[in-house]
Parts: sequence; structure tokens; C-alpha cells
Amino acid sequence: MGRLIVVSNRVAPTQEGRPAAGGLAVGVLDALKETGGVWFGWSGETVAEPSAPVIEQQGSVTYATVGLTRRDYDQYYKGFSNTTLWPTFHYRNDLARYERQEYGGYLRVNVSLARQLQPLIEPDDIIWVHDYHLIPFARCLRDLGVKNPIGFFLHIPLPVPEVMRSVPPHEELMKFMCHYDVVGFQTGADRQAFLDYIERGGHGTASEDGMVHAWDRILKVGAYPIGIYPDAIAKSAGQFADRKPVRSLRDAMRGRKLIMSVDRLDYSKGLAERFQAFERLLQNGPGWHGRVSLLQIAPPTRSDVQTYQTIRRNLEGEAGRINGRFAQLDWTPIQYLNRKYERNLLMALFREAQVGYVAPLRDGMNLVAKEYVASQDPDDPGVLVLSQFAGAAEQLPGALVVNPYDLNQTAEALERALSMPHAERVSRYQDMMASLRENNLSVWRDTFLTDLRSVATAASVTARARQAAPVDKASAPAAPAPASPPASTATTVPRAATRAQ
Ligand code: G6P
Repeated sequence: MGRLIVVSNRVAPTQEGRPAAGGLAVGVLDALKETGGVWFGWSGETVAEPSAPVIEQQGSVTYATVGLTRRDYDQYYKGFSNTTLWPTFHYRNDLARYERQEYGGYLRVNVSLARQLQPLIEPDDIIWVHDYHLIPFARCLRDLGVKNPIGFFLHIPLPVPEVMRSVPPHEELMKFMCHYDVVGFQTGADRQAFLDYIERGGHGTASEDGMVHAWDRILKVGAYPIGIYPDAIAKSAGQFADRKPVRSLRDAMRGRKLIMSVDRLDYSKGLAERFQAFERLLQNGPGWHGRVSLLQIAPPTRSDVQTYQTIRRNLEGEAGRINGRFAQLDWTPIQYLNRKYERNLLMALFREAQVGYVAPLRDGMNLVAKEYVASQDPDDPGVLVLSQFAGAAEQLPGALVVNPYDLNQTAEALERALSMPHAERVSRYQDMMASLRENNLSVWRDTFLTDLRSVATAASVTARARQAAPVDKASAPAAPAPASPPASTATTVPRAATRAQ
């Protein structure tokens, strides 16, 4: 069996213990460590000139990373990916902005990344592309003659067609998705949004088994909810319990209850609403004053995108206002920390919290919700308060599910979580752990890759049969209609450089 090549814009840090940004890096790294393989993507650096991938071996994973020029970064990453697609796919088209030039940069970088990856691909490899930065990537590889199976997984939500259509090149993007052999989404709702776009828009048809025929392409479309390794997390949460920061937090709480949240500082996470619902809890329940704190860890990301600067200012204002309103000499209601922590330490901190508070306005999955549950002490677990708009809500039956726009309902859920009897906490925790074990990270990876292998095998058998059969020109299927070609670049593919093996 060939190697697995994972392609994503963000590649997890190669040094152990450094915090990885976001769920994609965490999930993919854990999934790839087991199978081994190549991980290709952006190094996180901007460079003067595009150059060959830097290859670095860490255990079973070979990292192949490339820099982006400033122009590529501005147009592809900061521009079309994070100022057009990210807000729209999170239903914030009020915050989205579209620039044709940035879309041109997005296509150009996809072409150039495909050219940089191509020399590393061997005939038996299977290629798994991740997330919204790389929707055209399969098409770019196919244009270069790559014949390997190529799958795509979208880590963020896919919006319903009406919202999708607000992205000007929506149809081209959907056509690009159809160049993959398998397209995977986090939830059944995201998958349905894709099928609705194809079927209601008259672009193709879908069958019961998830096969889609559209734009002269056949692909499999499914929901593959990403998981975690709950038992490994439980173990590390226990092992890190005596680390100094965990002890400091425990001492500082002095018997008070702790509600804890960890999110990248992003407007999709609903942090202002979260603070306001906590404020409502304090406003409606004076008995909680001095008895509960909210710890919000929110490392800043994408801080050169305007909307992220605005949210940061707003949140500082909200935290300050609420603290000013309720704080006492020996009690600060909201502790708001804009910094990253190592993952193992976070898991140990989660174990200290009586409530995990995960209330995004929209989220593909949200692995933090799953990690909070897995970190709990089985004999004395905390309670998860979870937004109905996180993909994780489909999978965590024991959470208290809230509508984050309803501040009263959320405040009531927090109150209920803080006061929940021991037996109910244990039973909810057990339900959720059972679901996390059943749908762990290996299940996500293996189900997706099994589908990718079988669809690709079926396609090559059909292609061989067609080659063997005498061609009746009249009945031969039309060649795939080319989508409008991605803007090409003049860069040639340099040889791979090696940093360390
Ligand atoms: C989300 C996205 C990922 C992204 C991560 C961090 O989890 O789905 O694709 O890598 O956020 O964002 P960043 O822009 O720092 O890569």
C-alpha cells in the first residue's frame, strides 16, 4: 500500500509540545502519526521568492513545507481564504469581502503548491487534501497529470446554497470540489448543503449511497465527523495535574467553581455573547458572586485581518466592563488570557473546571468540546455546555445544548451545569465518552481513506474496462468538461531541499 500524503495550508509545528493552531493541525497530526506519511503545506513563513519544499522527518511523519511570498499571503491566505471564504462559510457574509484579484491569487497559489508537491508524489500514494484554502487543489494536480486518488475534507461548515451563492465564484468552487474522488464534511447538515447546491441548482444528481454525478464527474460525498483519542487525552490530563500552572490555578480558585473556555480569538466563536451570558448568570444569581469565575483562553490569530482586530478590541471592552461591574477585591469574574498553551497542559486545566463552556455561533466540529469531556475525572466529571451550532452537538448526547444567541437560556444552562447532581454528571459523562470512543480519530481517518481507496479503485477498473472495450464513439462518455483554468504561474518546480532527516 502506498503512502498517505496529507495536504493542508496549516501544518502542525514539528517540535513536540508547541501549541498547534486550531483543530485541523491537532486532528491531522494525531491521525498521521499512526499511519505515517507525508504532510505538505505552508511553513507559516513569508519569503521573498518561492522555493522548493523543505523536508523534515519527525518520527513516521515527513513534513514538506513551503513559504509564501507576501503577495501570496495577502491574496490567498489573508484575502480570499480568510476574508471571503471563512466568514461566508461561517454564515457571516456581513463580514465577508470579495476582491477578484485575491481570488486570482488563491488560484495562483493552488497551482503553485500543486507544482511544488508533484515531484514528491509516487504512483501508489493516496492524497488527502484539507480545508477551504485548497478547494481547487485536485483540479490543479489533475492538470499536471497526477492520477492518484485524491480526497478532500472540509473542516469548517459548508453553508446552505443561498449563502454559498454570495461568494461570486461559487459555481467554479463547487466544480473544483467535484474534481476530488471523495469529498467529506463534518456533519450531515454540511453534506446536505453540498447536495442541495448540486441537485437544486440542476448541476447533477446524488444517489442513496452518497455517489454524486455532477459536471461529468463522479465522486463520493459523505459526512465524516472528526474525532479525538479520548483515552489518551484522559491519561495526559491526569498526568499533568501536578504541573505548576495547574496547581496555581487550583490555589487561585480557593474552592470557587470554574467555567472554562478555550478558543482561537475568532468572531465565529461567539466570545462576546459568551461573556454576556456569563454576565446574565451573575446578574440573575447574586448568590454566584465571588463563587464562580470564567476562564477564557483566547490566543489571537489572523491578527492582520481587520475583523480580527475589531473583535479583539470588543472583547477587551466586554471583559473589562463585566469585571468592572461585578469584581470584588478578592474576586475577578472573568479571566481573559490572549495566549497559547501547550495542549497537554490545557487538558489538565480542563480537568479543574466544573463546566466546559463551548458556545460558538458556528463551528465545523469544535474539538475543544470533545477534549473537555475526555479530560474529566471519571469519578467527578464536569459538565459541558455546548452550542447547537457546533458540529460536535450532533455527537455529544450528554451536553447541555444551548442557542448562543439566547443569553437567558445559556445563563440558565450554566447555572444548571454548576449545580448538577453528581449522579447526573457521571451519567452524562459516560454517554459522551462512549460516543467519543466509538467515533474516535482513527474511525474518522480510516472511514474516509477506505472510501477514497474504494472509489478510486472502482474508477480505475471502469477506466480500464473502457480502454479494453471497442469504443463506440456515439455512446462514449464525454470527457470531463474543464472548469475555467486556474490562473497559471510562471514558477518552475525546484528540487526539494532537505533541512533534517
Ligand atoms: C481552523 C481551520 C484551519 C486553520 C485553523 C487555524 O481550525 O479549519 O484550517 O488552520 O483554524 O487558523 P490559521 O489561519 O491560523 O491556520
